Amino acid sequence: MVVCTEETFAGQPCRRLTLPGGDSVLVALQGAHVLSWRSGGRELLYLSPRNVWDGRSAIRGGVPVCFPQFNQRGPLPKHGLARNSTWQALSSTQDQGALTLEWRDDDASRALWPQRFTARLTVALTPGALRVTLDVDNTDAQPLAFSGALHTYFAVDDIAQASLHGLAEQAEWDAVADRHGVAADVLRFAGEFDRVYAAASRPLLLDAGGHRLRIAQSESWGQHVVWNPGADKCATLADMPADGHRRMLCVEAAQVYAPVVVPSGAQWRGWQHLSLV
Ligand code: BG6
Repeated sequence: MVVCTEETFAGQPCRRLTLPGGDSVLVALQGAHVLSWRSGGRELLYLSPRNVWDGRSAIRGGVPVCFPQFNQRGPLPKHGLARNSTWQALSSTQDQGALTLEWRDDDASRALWPQRFTARLTVALTPGALRVTLDVDNTDAQPLAFSGALHTYFAVDDIAQASLHGLAEQAEWDAVADRHGVAADVLRFAGEFDRVYAAASRPLLLDAGGHRLRIAQSESWGQHVVWNPGADKCATLADMPADGHRRMLCVEAAQVYAPVVVPSGAQWRGWQHLSLV
């Protein structure tokens, strides 16, 4: 039986799910942001120790929900509005091993994005695995177009030793060099790495050093994004310690290029599923 508790982390209201075996997940109401996932006695997500924790500024680490815009591909703030907004925890699903948070359009969202919607993020915890699901309901009379990501920051022992498997031959856009190509069999990381991949049909495998994770995503996401700022870019990020880049790798379930279009009254669902192997 999973236990759901209310707690604060760095002054921010959160909910925690805990399994009898000790696995737990901590979610902030700001952004429906997963801050921590513990399994097998270790923390599996990276969370920067330099976050501002003012309830509004984007949180660096965990699982940022980027919606309704990926990065700077549109007129909205970088990575959209969801991560800077306060979501509501819905109590009804807590006893089923899952926690759902909801965010509906409000005056602040409509001031920047004139769109009616309901977004829900469901975090489902099972032994050794975490599923994060984003649901988007278009409650407007017009179509809803969005891009975005579940921007997961995985903890790695040492980025120089980490490797990502499963993208071989997938179309690759290197955003740093602005170069198109195909992915290598195994991705390794030395310096800034910011690439978009066509979604693979099979799960990816992250070798993080002391543990390995299987990373799957729903077919509704068009791409994966793999990101590490490297030392030089990391030094310019006020919310990261200088060596933070050595301890993290983002592997994101993403919609980067063509936006998803949800017809009036329709729904869209996208998830990312993480499991220890
Ligand atoms: C990644 C992008 O998804 O997010 C990068 O590919 C970006 O280009 C990174 O730098 C982090 O973005 P932010 O806004 O959280 O610093």
